[in-house]
Amino acid sequence: MQHDDTIGIVQISDTHFRDAPGARSFVAHEPDEGLAAVLAHAAGAVGDAALVVATGDLADIGEPAAYERLGEVLGALPAPVYCLGGNHDRQDPMQACLPRPTVHLEPAVQVGNWLMLLLDSNAHGRELSPDGTYRDRDDRVHAAAQPGLTPVEEQRARAILTATRAEHVFLWLHQPPLPETAPAAQGDSALALLVRDFPRIRAIGAGHLHGDLSGEFEGRPVHVCPSSYMSLDRRGGVLEGPGYRTYRLHPDGRVDTEVHTVPGPLTDTMRATPMPVYLADLMAGRVTGKELRALSDAEFEARYGERRPMPRV
Ligand SMILES: [Fe+2]
Ligand SMILES: [Fe+2]
Repeated sequence: MQHDDTIGIVQISDTHFRDAPGARSFVAHEPDEGLAAVLAHAAGAVGDAALVVATGDLADIGEPAAYERLGEVLGALPAPVYCLGGNHDRQDPMQACLPRPTVHLEPAVQVGNWLMLLLDSNAHGRELSPDGTYRDRDDRVHAAAQPGLTPVEEQRARAILTATRAEHVFLWLHQPPLPETAPAAQGDSALALLVRDFPRIRAIGAGHLHGDLSGEFEGRPVHVCPSSYMSLDRRGGVLEGPGYRTYRLHPDGRVDTEVHTVPGPLTDTMRATPMPVYLADLMAGRVTGKELRALSDAEFEARYGERRPMPRV
């Protein structure tokens, strides 16, 4: 279906793929099942879309085979897919195993009078190597809980934004720079200065929070996409089923967006599953990821009355 002069985009996020069918994290279904449910529900929108954007945490722990398997799924879609990494991703295997002829890790693509700018916002999970490149830190999942830009990524973004002839820019990140979840990104952070310096950035799309939050950053709307694997209804403090977002970008810079939760057995099961206590504590700020990580397995079990769901948490 054609929609006059607007551009259709489908956003998926936080697929958390593993290296083999049957591998999962801490909910009952596999990441494959959640993504399959999302892509089936979104088939019409994907068929109509100029592109699909996948906003990070593509793999759960970064196995090469996870990116191979995800690349096969995304490569079969009828629209080009543009991906960026999240705090769970590992750069080297992602770059080696994910790209396909229609699955991209490039930082920018222009569609009509809109530029899609995909930035790596995992600076806090990186360290500078002696050879001048940034490498993933072992603790990147927790260290990069908030968005940040390395000087290299900031300069790359500024060069693209200065050179583009596009009238409007849509900025895609993994971690959303919302004041309530990313206090370190406020004020005069590199990301804030970048957005402030380029008024053509009309909107920001992100993932990471596994929910459908929205807000503002530097006067620009921020839209957060649910996870295709496991989402949270942070307002209600309950688990939620697989979801995604659709967008329509207008020639005058306006953005319409809609959140979709996929109805069906996965969502029914998630809604009927009690929120893990540690996750409720994490969301409420009663504990930090760093504090959780410092607990031994026995201490975790003693404190929460349940086994540690994943080795890193
Ligand atoms: Fe995630
Ligand atoms: Fe994340």
